[in-house]
Amino acid sequence: MSQKLVAVKGMNDLMSPQIEIWQFVERTAREMFGTWGYSEIRTPIVEDTALFVRSVGEVTDIVSKEMYTFEDKGGRSITMRPENTAPAVRAYIEHGLGQQPVTRWYYLGPMFRYERMKTGRYRQFYQIGAEAYGPADASQDVENIALAWHFLKAIGIQHVTLHLNSLGDAPDRPKYLEALRAYFAPHVATFSDAAKETFERNTMRLLDTKEEALRPLVAGAPVIGDFLGEAAKAHFDEVKALLTTLGIPFVIDRTLVRGLDYYTRTTFEFIYEPPAGDNALGTAGTVCGGGRYDNLVRELGGPDKPAVGFAMGLDRLVLLLESLGTRLERRPLLFIATMEPELKAHAVKLVTELRMKGLAVDFDPRGGKFKRQLDRALAVKARHFVVYGQSEHEARAFKIKNMDLPDGDPNKEATVPLDGLAEWLLNAARVAPVTTPPGS
Ligand code: HAM
Repeated sequence: MSQKLVAVKGMNDLMSPQIEIWQFVERTAREMFGTWGYSEIRTPIVEDTALFVRSVGEVTDIVSKEMYTFEDKGGRSITMRPENTAPAVRAYIEHGLGQQPVTRWYYLGPMFRYERMKTGRYRQFYQIGAEAYGPADASQDVENIALAWHFLKAIGIQHVTLHLNSLGDAPDRPKYLEALRAYFAPHVATFSDAAKETFERNTMRLLDTKEEALRPLVAGAPVIGDFLGEAAKAHFDEVKALLTTLGIPFVIDRTLVRGLDYYTRTTFEFIYEPPAGDNALGTAGTVCGGGRYDNLVRELGGPDKPAVGFAMGLDRLVLLLESLGTRLERRPLLFIATMEPELKAHAVKLVTELRMKGLAVDFDPRGGKFKRQLDRALAVKARHFVVYGQSEHEARAFKIKNMDLPDGDPNKEATVPLDGLAEWLLNAARVAPVTTPPGS
């Protein structure tokens, strides 16, 4: 017996009626990110494994446990990108963009992490990200954060809170690490082997441990905010002041360290925090994460260029929009049924002409009985229905039924001449758009 073939665990097929929400989010992102001065970058799905080890960090969960790493046929170690900040930096360096004072990029595409799955957490998931290279100024951080904030609003997401922290500069770290090690040291004997290794190799990563047993200890650990140097402190103050000027609310979250090693100074997350009882994302509530990474370009072999960026989880945004009742499936404006084989060519020609005018018109290529075609029209949720029969063909006029109105409604049926059909449909589309945007 042949084995049933199914998608790889944690990787989803995306299709209607959800795909229309995906397309709406993607369309809005392309429009809006473009307006904000970000142009698209598309990098390959796979990269040299070393890129992620050197940027995300060897002792992070992403690199140590979650990467899809393979040897290709040439014996090279390649990895399916678990995130896109490092690939974008690689491209920035490779194409010599350090010559430009400011480079702003956005990207949209699949990422891969071998994670434990749950609602809102998948092994192939999609990110929309935005990265800005060049300016070190706090106004660049805030522009980036404001883009995320306004984008979430534009697609109709509510109840997200901006969590903000600063991780300081590289010179601020040694003192902090010393304090952190001193804090954890008396407890190391009780740690799991994995936690012991994290303590030894990258103590700060203990702060985003997924080990429940460690959480109470982590909660009392020293926070980096108490170790910021003057420059980082002033930068953070300006970020907060500018956010306030722009009317973007935030909460300071002194434990927000993020799960990747490259961050410096500002870090932030947008977390879905709905009123009690209706959390569509469960515990996967972070819809966006980002921050500054002022040393990464240099560390990967490029010029000394500060940078800041974020990435949003598209799967989570779509889940949220769905939970808010967003329905965007395309409905045909008109379904043309024809039962008579000799009229088929006329009907197909009419459907084609109307489609070429931008009108969503459908028909059933199987032909056949009236009932079958009506059922098909109902299945595709056509707004209007017409029979193209011999008498309609001769009279060059149609009796069009509005499928959304109940029988007996005075507007249920309209007689429309063939010559005026396109205009009549255009008008019908204006009166009731085919899609319902969120929040309407
Ligand atoms: P990240 O926090 O690892 O950051 O991921 C960003 C967002 O991607 C998360 O907030 C979440 O919405 C989504 N995400 C992550 N993992 C999954 C998953 N397994 N399933 C579904 N959604 C997921 C980064 O990736 C950084 N590169 C962000 C950045 C850009 N920092 C600076 N520039």
